[in-house]
Amino acid sequence: MPRFDDADFGVDAAPSGARSPRDHRSVAGSLPIPSDANNTVEIPATRSSISDAAQFMHNLSLSPSTRDRRGSRNSFGTSLPIPRSPRVSRLSSVARAGDESVSRDILASQIQDMSQEKVAAAKNMAFAFDIDGVLCHGLEPIEEAKETLRMLNGDNELGIKIPHILLTNGGGKTEAARCKQLSEILEQPISTDQFIQSHTPMQALSEYYETVLVCGGEGQAIREVAENYGFKNVVHPKDILAWDPTVSPWGFFTEEDRLEAKPRDFTKVKFDAILVFADSRDYATDFQLCIDLLLAENGKMLTRSKNPNERIPIYFSQGDLIFPTNHKGPTRLTLGAFRIALEAQYKALTGEDMERVIYGKPERATYTYADEVLRSWMQQIHNENTLPQNIYMIGDNPMSDIIGGNMYGWNTCLVRTGVFQGEDNDPQNPANFGVFDNVLEAVKAAVRKELGQEFKFKWNPKVNPVVHGEGQSAIE
Ligand code: G3P
Ligand code: MG
Repeated sequence: MPRFDDADFGVDAAPSGARSPRDHRSVAGSLPIPSDANNTVEIPATRSSISDAAQFMHNLSLSPSTRDRRGSRNSFGTSLPIPRSPRVSRLSSVARAGDESVSRDILASQIQDMSQEKVAAAKNMAFAFDIDGVLCHGLEPIEEAKETLRMLNGDNELGIKIPHILLTNGGGKTEAARCKQLSEILEQPISTDQFIQSHTPMQALSEYYETVLVCGGEGQAIREVAENYGFKNVVHPKDILAWDPTVSPWGFFTEEDRLEAKPRDFTKVKFDAILVFADSRDYATDFQLCIDLLLAENGKMLTRSKNPNERIPIYFSQGDLIFPTNHKGPTRLTLGAFRIALEAQYKALTGEDMERVIYGKPERATYTYADEVLRSWMQQIHNENTLPQNIYMIGDNPMSDIIGGNMYGWNTCLVRTGVFQGEDNDPQNPANFGVFDNVLEAVKAAVRKELGQEFKFKWNPKVNPVVHGEGQSAIE
């Protein structure tokens, strides 16, 4: 059963003549209608679809005339499709949260029976964790994150799982591969069913586009990501280099690339869209191919369109400009920097602002999708088809995690272990629940608010259910 109606998101049923992606299939240069309209829902965009680069640029355009400048035809700029419900089966890993012994389960359930108010409060709260700068720095865990997840997975006085999902602007590999990696780093099981990468909701686009150029990430791992999402014809930049290495004079193409690449005659391929899923590892090639296809006639390589309405759309999985890594100096540039550079190139070549769509935090579409993942995670861990009311976003980036959470009506906690390093709250996008030194401090504060100041962040295997009850400590 679909979980959403368009009306749930303030999306009107498209009136005749409305600019909706579903309206335009037969119009030249228009966006397609999804093949199976019931599987996606379009969420109004938070950001404008017009390039950010213009404001940073001098007028260096090669064609300064705006005579041919098109009006906005990219109706995706005003709505971002997401799946109506999480497609668990396509993305699932085997990891499940919690592997406790049966006796521990029995004891915990006895304790929970004695503490129904607290249990209800524990199921009515949830966490959405950013990853980079909150749980990890690249492949290095933030130590407090391990204890945090252990506590939320049941190492607490009730032995109860407090619902939580991971909501990252990172990406570039399959959900299953990333969850396996995170489970190892953080020493806690992390399931794909509680996990959202920047590009996870973009699987909805497979209902709209068949042939896509997919850029970003290590090696050619994103090929599998896009294929898992259901795109029928996935092209990786290295496939094009394998066909004709001269397309990218400054790119690189190794023997390993050749083994994985799938060259074909790209003069016969018509691209429907460009998807930038993660940080480029070959800027020269990715810039060149994005520009080639953006300026092409209806997505055909080696052509140049005279009609801007024949240009294909481009999607970015997220818009962060900087992110924290294990580098000792200032934060590093990320996908937003690639996009702004591409926008500038497009503007310089055409005189027009590049239209694009950006998923990821702080887009409303991402948070709407997160709600749905959380609801289905509740079903898995507590067998309850409900959405907790008190959701806490724990993030390090005021410009994505915090502003997005604030706009969506969640509680927001800003931590000092990543992008944000200040003493006081961020002046532009303050976290409404406060600023904390690390994720553990933030989670403890939130749990104490919802479950009581005396709540114990440790399971006591020797607890006696007979003497335990409301208001009594589980620690003997
Ligand atoms: O590229 C930025 C990305 O890695 C940020 O990830 O987990 O902080 O949203 P996260
Ligand atoms: Mg972060």
